Amino acid sequence: MHTNGAGQWRDMQVIAHGACRICVRDPGAPGHCLKYELPPAAGARDRRRRQLRHLLSSRLAWFGDNHRELRAWQRLRARLDDGLSLHVAECEGIVATPAGRALRCRMVADGNGDVAPSLLHCLTTPAAGASAAALCAAVDRFEAWLLAQRVPLSDLNPGNFVVVRRDGALALVCVDVKSVIAGKELIPVSHWSWTWMRRKIRRRAARLRDRIRASMEPYALAASPAPL
Ligand SMILES: Nc1ncnc2c1ncn2[C@@H]1O[C@H](COP(=O)(O)OP(=O)(O)OP(=O)(O)O)[C@@H](O)[C@H]1O
Ligand SMILES: [Mg+2]
Repeated sequence: MHTNGAGQWRDMQVIAHGACRICVRDPGAPGHCLKYELPPAAGARDRRRRQLRHLLSSRLAWFGDNHRELRAWQRLRARLDDGLSLHVAECEGIVATPAGRALRCRMVADGNGDVAPSLLHCLTTPAAGASAAALCAAVDRFEAWLLAQRVPLSDLNPGNFVVVRRDGALALVCVDVKSVIAGKELIPVSHWSWTWMRRKIRRRAARLRDRIRASMEPYALAASPAPL
């Protein structure tokens, strides 16, 4: 489960909880965050598989989510120019900290220097002030970038994006590029063929827009005046 929010974990300020990781502000590097791998919570999706992966990565870090995300980001960085950081949060490396090994990333911030809200947070918190139309337009632009640059990012779940304001419009920044590297699929066909991947990206982006509209419709209805 994803939660955007306050709280402390091992004396560090929590940014959010993902399904298998916790993201905190890096106390030693302002403007950065640290991601720690955690055992899957009770009731988590694919709990058995995640438990096995967690066990494996506690012995061999290479198999963990943090290493996978770092490898995926490095793969993109090697191919794409500086424009990458407009669309994807920068990964700096695996660091040893008093609370254990973590992936250090640049924290995506809004205009005030506060941490940017996740797209998931915007869907569940009407006060975040983003309309469904503006968020869907941001998905359109992100999808267009993926397709133009041939970026094989298939996990377009709203917890993997944060929302920023750029040039007067909303923009998505991906904070989790693990899916650029095949992992979950038994036979990763979409990673072998760009035609398959393109279809998958289009399908997933359409699904994300549907989810945005479905989640935000009740707020829009509540805000609009009752029909005469
Ligand atoms: N670089 C970053 N800048 C700002 N916020 C971030 C950053 N990285 C992660 N977050 C926050 O942490 C949340 C979880 O991040 P992430 O997707 O990396 O975790 P996860 O364990 O992979 O979650 P899941 O497995 O559910 O996708 C994001 O929704 C976002 O709110
Ligand atoms: Mg994620």
